[in-house]
Amino acid sequence: MSAEYQVSGNIAVITMNNPPVNGLGHSTRSAIVESMQLALNDDAVKAIVITGAGKAFSGGADIKEFNSPKAFAEPSLHTVINVLENASKPVIAAIHSVCMGGGLELALGCHYRVATAGAQIALPEVKLGILPGAGGTQRLPRVLGLEMALNMIVSGTPVASEKLAGTALFNELIDGDLMQGAIAFANKIADARPLPRVRDIKIDYPNHEAFLQFSRNTVRAMSGPFPAPLKCVEAVAAAVTKKFDDGLKIERDLFLELVQSTESKALRHAFFGERAASKLPDVPEDTPTRPIKAVAVIGGGTMGGGIAMNFANAGIPVQILEMKQEALDKGLAIIRKNYENTFKKGKLTQEKFDQRVGLITGTLSYEAIADADIVIEAVFEEMGVKEQVFKKLDEVMKPGAILASNTSTLDVDVIAGFTKRPEDVVGTHFFSPANVMKLLEIVRGKKTAKDVLATVLALSKKIKKTGVVSGVCDGFIGNRMIEQYSRQAGFLLEEGCTPEQVDKAVEKLGFAMGPFRMGDLAGNDIGWYIRKRRYIDKPHVTYSKTADLLCELGRFGQKTGAGWYDYKPGDRKPYPSQLVNDMIIQHSADLGIDRRKISDQEITERLIYALVNEGAHILEEGIATRASDIDMVYLTGYGFPLHRGGPMFYADTVGLTNVILAMNKYAKGRHGDAWKPAPFMVKLAAEGKGFN
Ligand code: 3HC
Ligand code: NAI
Repeated sequence: MSAEYQVSGNIAVITMNNPPVNGLGHSTRSAIVESMQLALNDDAVKAIVITGAGKAFSGGADIKEFNSPKAFAEPSLHTVINVLENASKPVIAAIHSVCMGGGLELALGCHYRVATAGAQIALPEVKLGILPGAGGTQRLPRVLGLEMALNMIVSGTPVASEKLAGTALFNELIDGDLMQGAIAFANKIADARPLPRVRDIKIDYPNHEAFLQFSRNTVRAMSGPFPAPLKCVEAVAAAVTKKFDDGLKIERDLFLELVQSTESKALRHAFFGERAASKLPDVPEDTPTRPIKAVAVIGGGTMGGGIAMNFANAGIPVQILEMKQEALDKGLAIIRKNYENTFKKGKLTQEKFDQRVGLITGTLSYEAIADADIVIEAVFEEMGVKEQVFKKLDEVMKPGAILASNTSTLDVDVIAGFTKRPEDVVGTHFFSPANVMKLLEIVRGKKTAKDVLATVLALSKKIKKTGVVSGVCDGFIGNRMIEQYSRQAGFLLEEGCTPEQVDKAVEKLGFAMGPFRMGDLAGNDIGWYIRKRRYIDKPHVTYSKTADLLCELGRFGQKTGAGWYDYKPGDRKPYPSQLVNDMIIQHSADLGIDRRKISDQEITERLIYALVNEGAHILEEGIATRASDIDMVYLTGYGFPLHRGGPMFYADTVGLTNVILAMNKYAKGRHGDAWKPAPFMVKLAAEGKGFN
């Protein structure tokens, strides 16, 4: 049973009990209907209270059941709501904590609703690419009015229950014990007839057509590739313009259309992917974590400063250690400036500004940081410097302190080997700007202790990052894959593309930025530095020389005022560069390549399938735990379009057989060796499976 039934005096209490958030899956729905029959058949029962056990009233329909027969199996949520709404005895929803989606729709089907203050009330379906499908778009406008309901449905944003007091959504806000209050309320109205139904309320909005048209225009302009927000407006419009049951039918049809859409599947994939990423098969969920009350960061440069800000934003004190006072002062001044900018934009109160700036202090002394619970090293990317730092940390840090490195390319196991406590060493690979980017790759060394991983995963949530665990390899998950993408981008230039053509093709697919604009933003010298090392370490790996030629001209990107594109002073807009395009054409000629016209389809396939194939190798080698982890890395750290769900999800939507067929075609071209499909992908395709 996913609901409990109890009678207390004349009042029956139905408590939904489907942890963690009382999702309205098939078993919960069945249990509610069965409990309702008991209550209706019992003459002693005068009124029925429905509530949720644990940490939610209800988080809504069980998303895990979507696209499975259980989602629509009877009793459907519509049936449950009909049973409540048409009951001959009053039904009261007793709402607390979380009342979202189908949970709110269920409450709206009750005759009365009481709630505690602080409950989060939302119809968040739009964030999953769908719309409320059990009457929410028809009933919410009837209790909150057209404008407020439309805003809540189109944005999906939760509103605190006390902010909705005084609307027809709540009959009472309960101070003190919810169940006592709800039962007292139930006794008070037990004999009231007729029973009020939300569906019978009239929506009064003068000139609603003008408002709806304005909403359509605004929402269309803001919803990008996602169809759901505009459909939300259509469903709400039906609440005003149609009879209740006709409106319900329109809502239902739109819901069914959206639930099948790739955009919604991608959003649901990201929802579960984010949560799955915090779980490791061999690290039990109840693994005790180490307390983190004080943080130290070694190196207050580009990354160190941003890393420190994350902790201050979460209320945790941070010390930054530098070697020289000058560098320390510079680092602290940049942090202060960042906070000042946020303050000036009105995004930070004076109190928060003071608090955050006050939480970050500087030091030149290792002894001063010895008591920190975690120390994150962000010094120069040279093994010799890392060795010095980690040997020193091993000497001074208290036992049990976590020793983390922000290295982006070095071997975390080698770094751990500089200490006598490799089990305490872990990689924490932040992305630049570290105070903004959501991704945190957590690099698991061979000896990293399980409680260290559990602690860093929990910490990533605390600082509002998406933590994804990667094994040790060159580039970890994200950069190892992007290297294959960049290689293809370079080859495309030699074969016939311009940087602008490649960028535009990828941006049309939904990427925030194509590879060449990205290079200009991040600095083309970084890749040049890495390639020079690779030419020695891995001479068999081929690259296009165009990027090296560009760097030899000193065109490192925006920071030098010129890169793949030209830039005007004070303007970040890229302008196609004749000089660069001539250089590329000359290079093709030097290589004896007949430049050809290359389609956008070829461009995007080559770039994305290069990511996918490397992702498949990464899965095969166990560097990533699951395909959705790779997708989370790309969605949160590399600007992969959310509505396409990440590279591995995207490959699944294309079909792995199709991906392999395309790869086989490209294998016949130049650098064909890059297109050998990963055996793991070939196996999945042969079994008719996908990555996810
Ligand atoms: N169905 C199934 N599982 C759900 C769920 C849901 N609606 N909502 C949350 N969960 C699960 C999560 O997957 C997670 O599971 P895990 O522990 O196995 O990883 C667990 O509940 C806890 O979730 P969070 O980590 O997000 O916990 P929080 O306490 O931070 O947040 C929450 C709780 C506010 C409910 C948040 O989970 C949330 O926003 N959930 C989505 C709510 C939603 O979108 N509801 C609408 C569903 S669609 C619908 O109702 C259709 C209807 O209109 C017909
Ligand atoms: P940076 O050059 O901006 O900053 C390094 C800072 O460390 C300087 O302020 C320097 O004075 C200080 N420092 C050097 N040696 C030190 C020592 N022995 N003790 C104390 N302080 C010392 O470098 P950046 O970009 O911040 O990179 C730091 C680390 O983060 C590197 O390992 C890098 O690979 C990694 N990283 C960089 C990213 C980026 O986009 N810049 C992204 C992800 C990781």
